[in-house]
Amino acid sequence: MRLQKYLAYCGIASRRKSEELIKQGKITVNGKIITECGYDINPEKDYVKYKGKLIKIENKIYIVLNKPRNYICSTSDEKGRKTVIDLIKFKIKQRLYPAGRLDFDTTGCLILTNDGEFADKIMHPKYEVEKRYTLKIKGRIEDNKLTKLKNGIKIEGKFIKPKVIKILFRKEKNDIISITVTEGMNHLIKKMCKEVGLELLWLKRESIGIVSIKGLEYGDWRFLTPDEINYFKRR
Ligand code: URA
Repeated sequence: MRLQKYLAYCGIASRRKSEELIKQGKITVNGKIITECGYDINPEKDYVKYKGKLIKIENKIYIVLNKPRNYICSTSDEKGRKTVIDLIKFKIKQRLYPAGRLDFDTTGCLILTNDGEFADKIMHPKYEVEKRYTLKIKGRIEDNKLTKLKNGIKIEGKFIKPKVIKILFRKEKNDIISITVTEGMNHLIKKMCKEVGLELLWLKRESIGIVSIKGLEYGDWRFLTPDEINYFKRR
């Protein structure tokens, strides 16, 4: 089995992140640092180590969390901020990591797993998994801005056209908008708002594919159902 595939399978990181770890010389096989991604290993015979610890195949875990504000989407933080892992670690002993990111001040749907291949299916744009966001903007969205977003705009050289964009409610002063995208670029919705001159007041992710946070309070989580797991796996 290829080394990066094995790392992802054992839940060390997504396939792409595993490749980075290998290139950075952080993985040893039978005591030797291996920096070649396609390196072939035999999971039954070879000793693969990361940070000096033997990597073992673990049971796969898939959960969805309703991320509260002011939590960082990472497994640790050098600034000592609370991480999404702090919300689950008392119940789940396996090392999980978030499949994709939500900003510190963004709330909502976040999938955590120890299955790197699965995480790739959520994060990589080629799998076209839809991420649905609700956002509140300051004031009203003018027709020309809505049309511009609907038709697609360039963000960092990439053409982004939402699958869906619509006004959900018109509050007294501010509009609540729904946007569905398949790209996974960091801070994408904030960049889109900035590009057309919308002031974002808050941002929440409602769902990833068929997985939603319906019924989950902030900070609560649940295991994915078999149907939800298969929805991503068969991509
Ligand atoms: N887009 C953003 O700007 N932030 C998020 O957290 C998610 C999508």
